[in-house]
Amino acid sequence: MKSNLLSILIVSVLFPLSAYANGEKEDAFVRDMLSRMTIEEKIGQLNQLDGRMDMAKLEAMIRAGQITSLMNIVDPDEVDRLQKIAVEQSRMGIPILFSRDVIHGFKTMLPIPLGQAAAFNPSLVEKGARMAAEEATEFGIRWGFAPMIDVSRDSRWGRIAESFGEDPLLNAVLGLAQVMGYQGDDMASPTSIAACAKHFVGYGAGRGGRDYNGSDLTERELRDFYLVPFREVLQGGCASVMTSFQDNDGLQASANKWLLTHILREEWGWDGVVVSDYGSTGQLMRHGLAKDRKDVARIALDCGTDMEMCSKTYLQFVKGLIEEGVLAEDQLDQAAGRILRMKYRLGLFDSPYTQRLTHNAGSADHMETALEAARESAVLLKNSGVLPLNPAKKTTILVTGPMADAPYDQLGTWDMDGDTTLTVTPKAAFLARANDNVRVLWQPGLNYSRDRDMSSWKDLKKKASKADVIVAVLGEEQILSGEAHSLADINLIGVQKQFVDMLVSTGKPVVAAVMAGRGLTIADEVEKCSAVLYCFHPGTMGGKALSDIVFGDVNPSGKLPITIPVHVGQSPIYYNELRQGRALVNNRARPIDEIPRSAQQSVLGHSCTYLDYGDKPLFPFGYGMSYSSFEFLDAVPLKTDYAADDVMSVKVKLSNKSGFAGDEVIQIYMRDVVSSVSRPVKELKAFRKVHLDAGETREETIEVPISSFGLHNLDMDYVVEPGEFEILVSDCSDPAYCPSAIKFRISVK
Ligand code: NOJ
Repeated sequence: MKSNLLSILIVSVLFPLSAYANGEKEDAFVRDMLSRMTIEEKIGQLNQLDGRMDMAKLEAMIRAGQITSLMNIVDPDEVDRLQKIAVEQSRMGIPILFSRDVIHGFKTMLPIPLGQAAAFNPSLVEKGARMAAEEATEFGIRWGFAPMIDVSRDSRWGRIAESFGEDPLLNAVLGLAQVMGYQGDDMASPTSIAACAKHFVGYGAGRGGRDYNGSDLTERELRDFYLVPFREVLQGGCASVMTSFQDNDGLQASANKWLLTHILREEWGWDGVVVSDYGSTGQLMRHGLAKDRKDVARIALDCGTDMEMCSKTYLQFVKGLIEEGVLAEDQLDQAAGRILRMKYRLGLFDSPYTQRLTHNAGSADHMETALEAARESAVLLKNSGVLPLNPAKKTTILVTGPMADAPYDQLGTWDMDGDTTLTVTPKAAFLARANDNVRVLWQPGLNYSRDRDMSSWKDLKKKASKADVIVAVLGEEQILSGEAHSLADINLIGVQKQFVDMLVSTGKPVVAAVMAGRGLTIADEVEKCSAVLYCFHPGTMGGKALSDIVFGDVNPSGKLPITIPVHVGQSPIYYNELRQGRALVNNRARPIDEIPRSAQQSVLGHSCTYLDYGDKPLFPFGYGMSYSSFEFLDAVPLKTDYAADDVMSVKVKLSNKSGFAGDEVIQIYMRDVVSSVSRPVKELKAFRKVHLDAGETREETIEVPISSFGLHNLDMDYVVEPGEFEILVSDCSDPAYCPSAIKFRISVK
């Protein structure tokens, strides 16, 4: 058995999954369709194209049944016009599946997935995905390329923005929540879209954080970390998966039969659709894995890539390969059958056209969802006491910074269709709060994140001298993160460091709000500013969410879904690294300037970390402050001895010792004390976000299946090894940030 059983845990976090009940009916339908289709028509079902092409050619191909899916057509009239051709003028009348990168919203934009992950709130992710599906389906889109559930450990990688961060469990739970939101209770509903888990697999582990670069993950690392979210999300009902661009261990995913056939089909028994990434099958030639386009078609289909995104080699060569006996017609039938089944489950055969139900984009409901998500995604990293501001006190606020009035940039990387006219920027939100008590001064200081024009700073300083507090909205434009936008330097870009210095030199407290697509190395700014709020790219309602938090209408509750390094050279950096023989004791690195001249080589204790920056991050995974002060009073397991198939119940007593109502995320980590292969220093096994009123103490019982404590042993079998396990109940992966964190041990027989 190679499978872990996190499902119990995940299903307990989410509502029950909708099963595909009418299996026999759909099998009969697919069989019947295939029996009436020509080889060419079946091959056509494997061919997805980008709709931004020559229209006459496109229409002819649709008539000939050569296109299964079209990307990037978002005009509902055009969608219906092309669909009509497919349904009425092609011989089999098979509808086209219109697809799009619906990643974190459609018109109304949610925070980037990395920001959504900071909320540690699956129902919010689900609600956001439902909102996006409702908007996208109005435009005829029935297939969205999300969730992206690549375990992501390196903030240099631009696509960390699109991920749910570094933890496998968090990716699994939030990925599944997004699938539930997209696909709904019934994928055939006109407001549902099929989800696509991506990128299968290891795309987040590209060397040096460079996009599209190869990875070197071992089978054990794949199984223990990177495959975990995919298994949970696919077995939980996700309709499709996308292969990744990069090679792992020398094999690009579309050419990896072990991954696409052995793992997906044989081990996991999954029957959804495998689609390649954009042009990635064609790129097998560049990888040196295929000699020509015919070879590409042979390898990709044989390995298990059902549908090609924009490479067209199947269209050209699969028929010949079958006639030559190189590929079996059954392989084609399997792939085409899976695609027809997905279309059937989407209800496309009954209802192929765009359902113009309502106009959802920008509706009050959707703006409220975007606001909720932006509020919960903000992480308070520092507060010297300046926050929250008292709205009843006479206060003058200077709002400034390159991201304070950036309606496009705050939407984040995948805002292909985002409506910037809906954006509420910090400038707009703070100005809207001006009243008899609150005076708001505004000057950008820098017009965009890379702007180096300091000519307005003299004037800005004058304005600052009139203010009681400065809110500086810093960060990076959306174009600096996302696909193909990796960075070697992840400091604040341009002259923003000097900008912060200038603002701090006024002696006024500076509240820094950072809008970015990654974890920026902001150690200096954290030291100098009075408060720091990490907002990621917060989407449409980011400005309003920020002002709500600054004024204390909303108590921040976000927790970091990634580890933020002090220095880029520490990357990749993540909390759940394997235990090392020479780890630093108590995380104490000796400051480099204190090393005596001509010191002996052994004087530093021979630890496996950097001499200059150590291995301590700027902020650890799971960290985030609140205006409340929470304390764990108790955490006890109902028993201490377990069998491998038991469930551990932990009774956690948490108290809010402050006068602020607030949300806290209870995090339960496990450490395997002794194991047959090295394991992480700790692994998140459960989390729960809870609300506590001012002064409230509450007890929560959290269940963790012992089956999730397993590892892949030397035979690559998944086993829970008998022995001791150390459990940490905390509000952060590093208990040093949580003085009341509680540890105990249990044993498994
Ligand atoms: C390439 C990206 O890697 C993938 O995530 C995306 O869905 C496709 N392009 C389609 O745009």
